[in-house]
Amino acid sequence: MTDSEIRKGLAGVVVDYTAISKVNPESNSLLYRGYPVQELAATQPFEAIAYLLWSGELPDAAQLEAFQKHERAQRALDPRTVALLDTMPEDAHPMDIVRTAVSQLGTFDHTLHRPGGWTDPDLDLGRALYLFAQIPTIVAAVQRRRRGLEPIAPRDDLDYSRNFLWMTFGELPSDAAVDVFRVSMVLYAEHSFNASTFTARVIASTTSDMYSAVVGAIGALKGPLHGGANEAVMHIFDEIGTAENVVPWLDKALAEKRKIMGFGHRVYKNGDSRVPTMKAALDVLLEESGRTDLAELYATLESEFVARKGIYPNLDYPSGPAYNLLGFDTEVFTPLFIAARVTGWTAHVMEQAASNALIRPLSAYNGVDERHVEG
Ligand code: ACO
Repeated sequence: MTDSEIRKGLAGVVVDYTAISKVNPESNSLLYRGYPVQELAATQPFEAIAYLLWSGELPDAAQLEAFQKHERAQRALDPRTVALLDTMPEDAHPMDIVRTAVSQLGTFDHTLHRPGGWTDPDLDLGRALYLFAQIPTIVAAVQRRRRGLEPIAPRDDLDYSRNFLWMTFGELPSDAAVDVFRVSMVLYAEHSFNASTFTARVIASTTSDMYSAVVGAIGALKGPLHGGANEAVMHIFDEIGTAENVVPWLDKALAEKRKIMGFGHRVYKNGDSRVPTMKAALDVLLEESGRTDLAELYATLESEFVARKGIYPNLDYPSGPAYNLLGFDTEVFTPLFIAARVTGWTAHVMEQAASNALIRPLSAYNGVDERHVEG
């Protein structure tokens, strides 16, 4: 086997079909079940996106109402989850806490004990909805606990986005700010065979269960080369401080061969299709907050980095500061990504199960030649 035959990072390798989303780097477009993501972000509640990704179609009004009713009924945490969150060390990373709590959800699901229960498609749809409903309550509780605050119970008179913000902050921001949050959830929901989704599919391909697949996907999402970048972007902004510091900071960072978080993408090489929509949403918050300093820092880093490297921002670049302006702690940004992407992950787990082949690539051995124990 030659070096050129080895596809490090599986770059350029097509491993399967998917009908869930289409990423088209040539036209910088992203379709969920055929619909352009920008159209969905402009018109749909986040619950309709979950419905679309799982069922293949947007819900009509009655279907949406029934779906929301089911979702609202499953938001409250089991007291054992609240107790588990209380056992976590104060300085544990929210991604680790949420990963652990999601793992616990699997232990509550007694349908897993049924013969064939791990991969039953009807049960899996119910599990996807359960995870979708529970994760915001977990993330909100984790955010509050970081500030020494008690969790707030979910409200069944509020939609997904409003309830999420209510449970986190105990008050609702402006309608415009709620909408920014909704848009971010829609844009983060699904992106074909990205690292975390592929992880979920690898786990599903062994005919393991949905909770295990989602826990594994959370582990993959945590890394700053993937979802962890939205947190890392904010750390970079904090490090740079103000727009005047961008040039010297960038000179040094590039001389040290640092990766600039929030820029670059494995698939999109001429800009991420989701960025213009998320940037427009961020602009609403920048305007509302009067944070011209942050707007200037954002624009200066983008223009300097693009001019020097020709590498464009990805979705994490505008979403990081947007979550900051909404009031979330920086360490809670990637858990918000979990809440959104669990819709895509679970859709992929079901698609993998429906047409399964164990995912098991080959490797080329480059260790020591065969040898034998002496004596
Ligand atoms: N900062 C500096 N240089 C970069 C960056 C960046 N953000 N992104 C790519 N490059 C450079 C690499 O150093 C490399 O240069 P070289 O050829 O001189 O060695 C070249 O561009 C190719 O980069 P790779 O990392 O090999 O490209 P790949 O397709 O594997 O990387 C990735 C994509 C991992 C996203 C990369 O661009 C990166 O690390 N970006 C920063 C992290 C980030 O923002 N991740 C979020 C991804 S999107 C999402 O999860 C929503």
